[in-house]
Amino acid sequence: MIIGGVLKKNFKNTDVKLIKDINNSLLLKSDVVILSLYSTLHIVDKNIKNLTEVLKNKNKNIKIYVGGPVSAYPSIILKELNVDGVILGEGELTITDIIKGSSDEGLAYLENDEIVINPNRKLPDLESEDILIPKDIGSQNIRGANIYLETHRGCLGHCTFCQVPKFFGRNIRSKPLEVIIDQVKKLKKYGVKKVAVSGGTGSLYNFKKKLNKDMFLDLIEKLSSILGKNNLSIPDMRVDYVDEDILNGIRDYTIGWVFYGIESGSDKILKDMKKGVSVEKNLNAIKLCRDCNVKVGGSFIVGYPTETETDYLLTKDFIVDAELDSVFVSIAEPIPTTELCDLVLKTPIDKNPSFIRDKGKYGRLGLTISEGRCLDLSIHGNMWKPNPVIITKKLFHTYYIESKKQGEDIRKITNLIYKYKSHLCENGF
Ligand SMILES: C[S@@+](CC[C@H](N)C(=O)[O-])C[C@H]1O[C@@H](n2cnc3c(N)ncnc32)[C@H](O)[C@@H]1O
Ligand code: SF4
Repeated sequence: MIIGGVLKKNFKNTDVKLIKDINNSLLLKSDVVILSLYSTLHIVDKNIKNLTEVLKNKNKNIKIYVGGPVSAYPSIILKELNVDGVILGEGELTITDIIKGSSDEGLAYLENDEIVINPNRKLPDLESEDILIPKDIGSQNIRGANIYLETHRGCLGHCTFCQVPKFFGRNIRSKPLEVIIDQVKKLKKYGVKKVAVSGGTGSLYNFKKKLNKDMFLDLIEKLSSILGKNNLSIPDMRVDYVDEDILNGIRDYTIGWVFYGIESGSDKILKDMKKGVSVEKNLNAIKLCRDCNVKVGGSFIVGYPTETETDYLLTKDFIVDAELDSVFVSIAEPIPTTELCDLVLKTPIDKNPSFIRDKGKYGRLGLTISEGRCLDLSIHGNMWKPNPVIITKKLFHTYYIESKKQGEDIRKITNLIYKYKSHLCENGF
C-alpha cells in the first residue's frame, strides 16, 4: 500500500492497481508487475514461479520486479524466479526511478548470468506517506485484524532468528503521529474496523535512547478514540520494554492483550538465540501482565539447532509455571541473512532436528523432532492455560496438520539455503 501510494503519486497518468489474486487477468495486460513477497516460501512457490513464466511468455515487453522482505537475499530470487530485478530494502525512494529506467540504485539484476547488486542507500524518513488503499480492504483478515499498521521501523533486538533488525536496522524510525492518525481515518472510511499495530515491538514507538512512554500512550489513546478499544490491538511486545504504565495503557486503550516473544524456557537457548533476556525476566513480565489485568500470550520457538531434549523439557516446565492465556509455537525458520541461517548451514542435516525422525510417540506418527515438539508444546500450552482446554481428537488433528506443514515448509527453506550456500556465504551473510 505504501509503494502503491508512491507509484500513484509519481505516475499520474498510469493506472496503478494493488492485486491480491495472482490469477487476475489484469496482470497479463500490465506493463510492469511488482511482486511483493514476504516469505522465503514465496520464492519456491510453484504458483508464483508459474506466474512469472506465463507473464513473460505472453507479453515479451513486460517488466517484472520483486520487492518486500525477501529482497534481503536477491541472489536467490534472481536464480529462482524469471524476473527483471529485485527492488532492495525499503523501496519508497528508489522505485520510481527504477521503473522509469533512469537509475539502478537499489536494484539487483542479472547481467550475462552475473548478479549485479546496486545497494539501496536511501532510507525514507517516514515523515509523509500517501498510501494506496484497495477497496476491499475491509474484508481482509490477518489473524483477526483487517490490517497490520506500521508505526515505526527497526528493532533494538539481536535475536539470531529474526529478520526485523536485519531488514530495517537497529535504529528506530517512527512515523509522525499525525501521519498515522490520518492513515487510520482514511482506512476507516474504506471499511477497516480492526487494526493491529506492528513494528516488531510496539512500545518502541518514538524510542530515542530510551522508551518514550508518553508518545506511545498518546498514540494508543488517539487510535483507540478513532477505532474503539475493542478494535485495536498491539500484540507484539518485548518483555524488557514494558512496565506498569505501558501495560495499563494496553488494558485501557486496546483489546488488552500482549504477545511476548518468550521463545524458550532454557536460559542456554535464550543465550544461543541472543534474546537478551532470561527465563526469570520472562516470568516477571508475565506476572506484571496479570497484575495489570492484561491477557498474555507467548510465542515459542522449537527445533532450534542447539535445543536438546532437556532444553525442551525446561520449556514445558516454563509453560506450567507461566500459565499463559495463549501459546503460539513455531519451528525455527532459517531466514536467509539471519544468524540462525548461518547456524543451520553449519549444522549437518543428520543433526538437524527438523530432518531427524522423532524417536518416541511422535516419530510413530511420522513426525520429526521439531514437528513433534511443535505439536507437543501446542497441546501442552492449551492444557496449562488458566482455563485449560480439553484436547479433543479434532484439536489434536488440527495441531498435527499444522506441525507437519511447518516442518515441511522449514525443510523446503533449509534445502533452498543449502542450494545457495555459496551465495549466502560469499555475500558475507
Ligand atoms: C511475537 S513477535 C516478537 C515480539 C517481540 N519483538 C519480542 O521479541 O519479544 C515475533 C515472534 O515470531 C517468532 N519468530 C520470528 N522469527 C522467527 C523465525 N525465524 N523462526 C521461528 N519463529 C520466529 C518468534 O517467536 C518471535 O518472538
Ligand atoms: S524477535 Fe522481537 S526483539 Fe528480537 S529482533 Fe525480532 S522484533 Fe526485535
